[in-house]
Amino acid sequence: MIPQQIKNPFKPGAGHMPPFLAGRDEEEREFTRLLQQYTILENLVLTGLRGVGKTVLLERLKELAISTGRWAWVGTDLSETASLTDEHLALRVLTDISLITSQIVIGRLEKVNIGFGSQITVQEETLNFNVLSQIYQHTPGLIADKLKCVLETCWHYMKDKNLHGVIFAYDEAQNLADHAAKEQYPLSLLLEVFQSLQRKNIPFMLVLTGLPTLFPKLVEARTYSERMFRILFLKPLDRESSRKAIMKPIEDGKCPIRFGPKSVDLIIEQSGGYPYFIQFICREVYDLFIQRIADGKEPTIPVDEITRKLDTDFFAGRWAMVTDRQRQLLQAIAAMDNCDDEFTVQDIAGMSKNMLEKPFGSSQVNQMLSSLSDMGLIYKNRHGKYSLAVPLLARFIRRQTS
Ligand SMILES: Nc1ncnc2c1ncn2[C@@H]1O[C@H](COP(=O)(O)OP(=O)(O)O)[C@@H](O)[C@H]1O
Ligand SMILES: [Mg+2]
Repeated sequence: MIPQQIKNPFKPGAGHMPPFLAGRDEEEREFTRLLQQYTILENLVLTGLRGVGKTVLLERLKELAISTGRWAWVGTDLSETASLTDEHLALRVLTDISLITSQIVIGRLEKVNIGFGSQITVQEETLNFNVLSQIYQHTPGLIADKLKCVLETCWHYMKDKNLHGVIFAYDEAQNLADHAAKEQYPLSLLLEVFQSLQRKNIPFMLVLTGLPTLFPKLVEARTYSERMFRILFLKPLDRESSRKAIMKPIEDGKCPIRFGPKSVDLIIEQSGGYPYFIQFICREVYDLFIQRIADGKEPTIPVDEITRKLDTDFFAGRWAMVTDRQRQLLQAIAAMDNCDDEFTVQDIAGMSKNMLEKPFGSSQVNQMLSSLSDMGLIYKNRHGKYSLAVPLLARFIRRQTS
C-alpha cells in the first residue's frame, strides 16, 4: 500500500470532489439565503463552462442543505439521458421524490385475530413509488396536471414532519432541452409544474446546473423563468483561491513535498484558474516532485510536457471533430483580443479578412458558428454574442498554429 503521505491528493475528473473546494464562499452564501425562503420565489441555476466545478459545488450545496436538518434533497444527473420525453421526466421526478416519501406511512392494516390468540401481520402502506404512480395514472388531464397532483399529495403528507422544504437538483440540465425527443418539451414541463406548486406555497425548490446554454434555454421554454431563477455563473478561481486550491491539499495531507511560490505561480498561470486544470496540473507536478524528492531541491515544472499531456487528454478529441475550414474559423477567433470573452459575427469576419486568403463572409460565419455550437465548442449568449465553450480553448488553438 502507498503510504498516506505520498498518495497524490489531487483529483482531476468530472464530479470528483476536490481535496479542498476553493473560492465558492459567495455561492454558498447565496444558496444559504435561498434556503430561508418560505414561499419559493427564487430557484437556483449554477452555470459555467465544463470543468469549472458545477457538479462538485452542487454536492457541497447538498451537504449544506441537509445539514440544516430541515431540507430534504432529491435529484439526478441528467448527463446520461439519451432521449427525453415529457413522460420520462415525470417518471424521473416521481422516482426521485419517492426516495423520501417511501418512508411516510399513509395507512396501516390493523392486527387481525385469526382464532385462538394468533394474529396476522400489521401491514404498513407507505407513500412509495407504486402508490405515487397510481395517483399519477388516476389523475385526469395532461402530464403536467398529473405530476402536480402527485407532488401536491406528497407535500400534504410531508408538511407536518418539521420539514422546511424539498430541493430538486438536476445536474447537466441543458440536456432537458438538447435531448428532448421530437415534439416533446420536458424543460417547459418542469418549469410549469414547479411554478404552479410554488404559487400554491409548496416549498419545492429547483436547483439546476448546466453549461452556459442552459439559461437561454430556460427563457426560451418559459419567459417567466427569467424571474424564477437566481443565476450564478461560475468563473475560474481568482489568484488567491487558486493558490488555496493548490496549497491546501498538500498542507492538509501532510505531504512530504511543497510547491514553492514560483511553481504555484506557474500552475496558476497555466491553469487559467480553471479548477479542472488546477487538479490536472497539480496531479502531474505532485508525482514528479515525489520522484525527485531524493534530490533534495525543488525540481522545475516541465511546462511543455504537461501542456502536451493536457492537449492529448483534454483537447485533441474535440479538435479531431473539426473540419479544416472550421479550424480556420476557430484560428481567426483565437487570434482576436476578445477571444476569451465574447465576440460577434462581424468581429470574426473582420479578423478573417486580415488573416486568410479566402476570408469568411458574415452569413458563412453565422452558419459555421451554429454547427460549432452543436459540437459544444461555441455558445451563443442571451445577447446574441458568442463565446468559446471550452476553457482555455483559444490558447490550445494558438498552439496548433505555431
Ligand atoms: N472550487 C474548486 N476548488 C478546487 N478544485 C475544484 C473546484 N471545483 C472543481 N474542482 C475540480 O475540478 C474538476 C471539475 O469539477 P466538476 O464539478 O466536475 O466540473 P463541472 O461539473 O463544471 O464540469 C474536478 O476534478 C474537481 O475536483
Ligand atoms: Mg459536471
